[in-house]
Amino acid sequence: MKKLLILALVAALALSMAPAALAAKNPTINADDLNFEAIIDDTETAGTVNIYHWWTAGGEKDAIESVVNEFKGIYENIDAKSNPIPGGAGGAMVMKVKVLAQTGKSPEAFQAHPGQEIQPYLDAGLLLNLNGLWEYGELEDRAIPSIVDMCTASDGNHYVVPIGIHKTNIILYNIHVFEKYGVAIPDHEDITWDEFWSLCDELAAKMPEGEYPLDLGDQKGWPACQVFENILLGTDPKLYQDFINGEYNVDDLTKVMETYTKLMDYVAPDHNSRDWYHATGAMVNGTYAMQIMGAWAQPLMTNMGQEYGVDYGVFTFPGTEGWFGMCVDGFVVSNNSANVEGGVRWAYSVCTQDVQEYFSGLKESISPYTDTPDDVYNALTLHFKEQLMDGNTKVYPSITHGTAIPWSASTSLQTQIQEYATSTNHDAAYYANRIVNILKEAGVKGDWNLVD
Ligand code: GAL
Repeated sequence: MKKLLILALVAALALSMAPAALAAKNPTINADDLNFEAIIDDTETAGTVNIYHWWTAGGEKDAIESVVNEFKGIYENIDAKSNPIPGGAGGAMVMKVKVLAQTGKSPEAFQAHPGQEIQPYLDAGLLLNLNGLWEYGELEDRAIPSIVDMCTASDGNHYVVPIGIHKTNIILYNIHVFEKYGVAIPDHEDITWDEFWSLCDELAAKMPEGEYPLDLGDQKGWPACQVFENILLGTDPKLYQDFINGEYNVDDLTKVMETYTKLMDYVAPDHNSRDWYHATGAMVNGTYAMQIMGAWAQPLMTNMGQEYGVDYGVFTFPGTEGWFGMCVDGFVVSNNSANVEGGVRWAYSVCTQDVQEYFSGLKESISPYTDTPDDVYNALTLHFKEQLMDGNTKVYPSITHGTAIPWSASTSLQTQIQEYATSTNHDAAYYANRIVNILKEAGVKGDWNLVD
């Protein structure tokens, strides 16, 4: 009797839990069952949309907030919640999304770089195919040509709606530091390796103790990897192409790491105790003369009251003249969130002309769409846009920012390069071997054609 009672209680408990357990799992929506036009045009339906992104630094934060505000303007009844995942470069996002998805709480939409970074989500069957959105928004016609390929996944479909583009192969420098120590600033942006080394030598000789020519701000690892990819391209673009295609050898990589070792002589010794934006702040304060960072540092400089050409300037990373390192930001939509249609509306909103105008202005990024007018850009972003659109410029996908090599290889590489930069002896051959092992283990195999 007692046993029966216990069984009955267990059954009752199971029944009472069942609806909650079922409610936690949302159905997986197939894009073929959606009418994208009707969803996007419906500005009345209410709901909640959770957006995940990693824009937490000054300027970036304002830029994403402008998108949220615009979205609320279009879809007034939808409560758009912005969830920042700090870290930069997307490293923390994949893990976050994985945990959310496993607990039945997939975000409606989240930030991602197109290319290899989205492959784990695709393999896990988590993303909504956005071909219908691309068609409705005429993105193939509106997007600048080099973007369309990068935003086409390995299965030929579109899952990402691009929101902005940044150039990765630049060095920012503090004009006042150069002036203070009487170091002549070259009158050209495309500096050679020789010019770069002599600037470093001169600055190192003239800057007092505690101040350095360069900083990495690689507490999160990826900024050190950013430097690695710049050196790789700046050593030989063919080497970069081979590397991301999975063809490499220890000797070539040792040469790349030897250049990195030379560069480390000019870097503040406590470089990995700071995040990239702290390093930018310290460069503005004059502790470091230069920072190797992508153009997303611009809005942060603006936020700190710095003016391009007056307070700071940029050099092209040595050896990368004529090349444009592409960091493409975008949003993807989960196919099993509580509000998949809301996710579609968010993704669509990021490519609208209004959002593109606000966002590009505040993020100081290049709009992926040809119909964004040039007057939204400041002088430097416009300059980078002109470089990108110049028929003679060659573009290459970023390793650090998700596009060029598989996510697992890219994150291991980031950790490895950070360990290298933090080590005391910077043993080039040893780390070249470690890098080769990472690529081998990840089975990196691409078919990029950059140099022809
Ligand atoms: C990149 C992203 C940039 C910027 C940077 C640092 O991955 O594409 O827009 O956010 O990280 O956070």
